[in-house]
Amino acid sequence: MTHKPIKKAVFPVAGLGTRFLPATKAIPKELLPIVDRPLIQYAVDEAREAGIEQIIFVTGRGKTAIVEHFDIAFELETTMEERGKDLSVLDPTRATPGDIITVRQQVPLGLGHAIWCARAIVGDDPFAILLPDELMIGKPGCIKQMVEAYNDVGGNLISVLEVPQEEVSSYGVIAPGEVKSDTLTEVTGLVEKPAVADAPSNKIISGRYILQPEVMRVLEDQGKGAGGEIQLTDAMARMIGDQPFHAVTFEGSRYDCGSKVGFVEATLALALEREDMGADVRDIAERLLAR
Ligand code: G1P
Repeated sequence: MTHKPIKKAVFPVAGLGTRFLPATKAIPKELLPIVDRPLIQYAVDEAREAGIEQIIFVTGRGKTAIVEHFDIAFELETTMEERGKDLSVLDPTRATPGDIITVRQQVPLGLGHAIWCARAIVGDDPFAILLPDELMIGKPGCIKQMVEAYNDVGGNLISVLEVPQEEVSSYGVIAPGEVKSDTLTEVTGLVEKPAVADAPSNKIISGRYILQPEVMRVLEDQGKGAGGEIQLTDAMARMIGDQPFHAVTFEGSRYDCGSKVGFVEATLALALEREDMGADVRDIAERLLAR
């Protein structure tokens, strides 16, 4: 059976980024760089690699710089050209005209509400969701791994990974069902931020989703859940049974850039892997550790 291709991706980027203040007072947290690429660029590149064409940003006040980042900076490019500089570094920031769409989440009512704000653009198509805080580095990337699984089983998919049991209450957690392969498991239940004792597993939702458009109708009347917010996890949980739901175990590295320690870890890890600076950064890290 062929499944409708995934061509649209929603990026919820309206969050206030309070955990990174004062850095995020005037700069959206999604533009904080890991080495020299802003977080949002990693997520958009990951989506494009998977064949996604339409980028939907759910933004809010103070977040317009994200859209600027994907525009053509005429003055910058002209000046660089005049000086004979290489412009290819800007290639990933160029969007095909019309491919970037923004909608606003006027009030921070939760992730489920943010996604629902994109309903008119998503329409009747299945779509991906990428939370840019979760930096997923893999070959291929996480969403591509999920699209490959989707082409097989269709329906709804979420990326999962295992965390120590005591950390589950910071995440959405799955109740795993039948194991279909090394990386694909059926999902029989979902709970957002459960108490450690109530968690159905230690497999957490790691910020990547492929969902059917019906989730928008479920979100329409979704009440508040964990933290008093409208939770995407709760809406997805209500779809289980009506639609296929699978978890894809991501093969690659994941960095939680929503936390400061995770952000520093990502910066170090990616810098160490870089051909142009890895050796220098290793020397510096060794020197610092020896202090
Ligand atoms: C959100 C989701 C949660 C998921 C997490 C991944 O939570 O609601 O299910 O596990 O992202 O980072 P948040 O981090 O917005 O509290």
